[in-house]
Amino acid sequence: MTKQQATDRLTATEVVLPGAVEPDGLEVRRGPVPAPGRGRVLLAMEATGVSFAEQQMRRGKYYDQPPFPFVPGYDLVGRVAAVGPEADPGLVGHRFAVLTKTGGWASHVVVEAADLVEVPDSVASADAETLVVNGITAWQMLHRIAAVEPGQTVLVLGANGGVGSTLVQLARHAGVRVIGTASPRHHDTLRQLGVTPVDYRDPGLHARLRELAPNGVDAVFDHVGGEGIVDSFRMLAPGGTLVSYGTASTRDATGSSKAPVLKLIGRLMLWNLLPNARRAHFFNIWAGKRRADGFRARLRTDLAQVFALLADGVIEAQVAARVPLSQAAEAMRLAESGTVTGKVVLVPDPAA
Ligand SMILES: NC(=O)c1ccc[n+]([C@@H]2O[C@H](COP(=O)([O-])OP(=O)(O)OC[C@H]3O[C@@H](n4cnc5c(N)ncnc54)[C@H](OP(=O)(O)O)[C@@H]3O)[C@@H](O)[C@H]2O)c1
Repeated sequence: MTKQQATDRLTATEVVLPGAVEPDGLEVRRGPVPAPGRGRVLLAMEATGVSFAEQQMRRGKYYDQPPFPFVPGYDLVGRVAAVGPEADPGLVGHRFAVLTKTGGWASHVVVEAADLVEVPDSVASADAETLVVNGITAWQMLHRIAAVEPGQTVLVLGANGGVGSTLVQLARHAGVRVIGTASPRHHDTLRQLGVTPVDYRDPGLHARLRELAPNGVDAVFDHVGGEGIVDSFRMLAPGGTLVSYGTASTRDATGSSKAPVLKLIGRLMLWNLLPNARRAHFFNIWAGKRRADGFRARLRTDLAQVFALLADGVIEAQVAARVPLSQAAEAMRLAESGTVTGKVVLVPDPAA
């Protein structure tokens, strides 16, 4: 093989997180396009995104931290370019979303065919991308864990975030009244979504929340964790459910990445044991993964409903920016800057 032929085969790009580094430490590597094995497919990536998980992973602070080096990328939308043995050849050319946890930040990604979720034709890849991990998380917390009913009131922390903004739209669609915490610059957008916004930095926050919901709320969705979880639990009306799903407040803390989550879960378990007529639940999107068939069926059903609502214009996707894959460092800086609304989406590099 000539040197030129060898170079031509190196047509796949991936972004590697080599260790706990600043965004500039991300490495862009080129290599051969991977071949799918048994039951697997090769996706040509059309959109992948920067989630909060990658912000934790690059600090080595994700609860289930993968060992360095690895390719980050919690989810992606791509088109099937090839199938391995025992995978349906009819999949080639079709577009799917997939939840990966890692590996999405690449031009070509091999995944299990069984994990693919169809994306409606009318939905753009970047729009669908913003709703994969965010949509599944929001839908399952709202409908499977809190099981909200029309006429109820819920409190959503970080209502402008990726999960939060999806959750509030799904809740409004389900006939639920929503109070949402966010920085004041997001309040107008939240009002347009039918949410009553409150500033989480306001010293009078709890008095304001009590004024808005004197008898408490039917569910609280809390990704902040830390000591504030006590206030979230206290906000519940009798019969209410606290859905805790993160510890954003400890993102920059030093020490064990598992300790804040384990402490939080211990606290929730204790509350469930006490006679207080309220429930506390820690949501983990990967719960039940060992029973793969049931896990996949739930994920597919739930994400299909979210995509259908997106296609029907009931909920909106928020793409903060589209950044070429090999500029992932810039995408990460932007996502962490706190200046954007919506999800920063990585798209394929323009053809050379
Ligand atoms: N358990 C699970 O299975 C699961 C699945 C998916 C996501 N998550 C978790 O969900 C959370 C949100 O993810 P995302 O992708 O939606 O993130 P995102 O788009 O970056 O949004 C984060 C939101 O949280 C707010 N925020 C950040 N730090 C805060 C703090 N210390 N106190 C109060 N609010 C704070 C931000 O408000 P500002 O804009 O005002 O800064 C923003 O509204 C993350 O913690 C993530 O780990 C968990």
